[in-house]
Amino acid sequence: MRAEGRKVVMLTCYDASFAALLDRAGVDVILVGDSLGNVLQGQTSTLPVTMDHMVYHTECVSRGCQRPFIVTDMPFGSYHEGPAQAMRNAARLMAAGAQMVKIEGGAHVVETVHYLVERGVPVCAHIGLTPQSVNQLGGYRVQGRDEDGAARLRAEALALEQAGAALMVMEMVPAGLAAEITASLRTMATIGIGAGADCDGQVLVLHDMLGVYPGRKARFVRNFMDGAASIEDAVARYAAAVRDGSFPAEEHNY
Ligand code: KIV
Ligand code: NA
Repeated sequence: MRAEGRKVVMLTCYDASFAALLDRAGVDVILVGDSLGNVLQGQTSTLPVTMDHMVYHTECVSRGCQRPFIVTDMPFGSYHEGPAQAMRNAARLMAAGAQMVKIEGGAHVVETVHYLVERGVPVCAHIGLTPQSVNQLGGYRVQGRDEDGAARLRAEALALEQAGAALMVMEMVPAGLAAEITASLRTMATIGIGAGADCDGQVLVLHDMLGVYPGRKARFVRNFMDGAASIEDAVARYAAAVRDGSFPAEEHNY
């Protein structure tokens, strides 16, 4: 899709009924995100989410849909010990129905990404605001604003591409920097969330874009239920807006 210049429409999903709805609405990639800790479990971070939770929700999603490509988050602690632990846990997620796993972080996960890709596990990287590191980052805030931070994100993107990651989420990154990083890559497609319209695709948390999450609404979220006739219509409108480049708009960017 990157080669053809077609935008990748990605959305989180955690159960079979919504997976079927996202399939019908034309979503390309489903992310079984560890955001389920926040939106399903009512936790204040993703840190308490376990491998058992991710396996269970991946099984639910994979029963519900046929066409969308399924990516599952590796939860906090499930890959941090190194490549062998990551492979063992990735294998559980793949057996549950994931077709790719997502790993947060830059330089410290490069070796793990390479190890998994070499062994037949496609990997989605995730840089910028990485919620599993919230206690170190000091909150959910934009990353890569200063020149040091920007240089680090540029270098991490190239290293992750080199390691074999096929997709990379960039979260809460200035739009100009995300565009520059996207243009610098050759094989890895970028997926933005709070990273501007010039990424190769976009992702949002389902409960955010349907306006059902009771917590604070981030700047980069649009409620697609506004003016929609149904949930399926809202998801279809999101897909259309990503494909025609009208979402995200200037007001959603950093
Ligand atoms: O868990 C999640 O939903 C995510 C996306 C916000 C990228 O990681
Ligand atoms: Na996540």
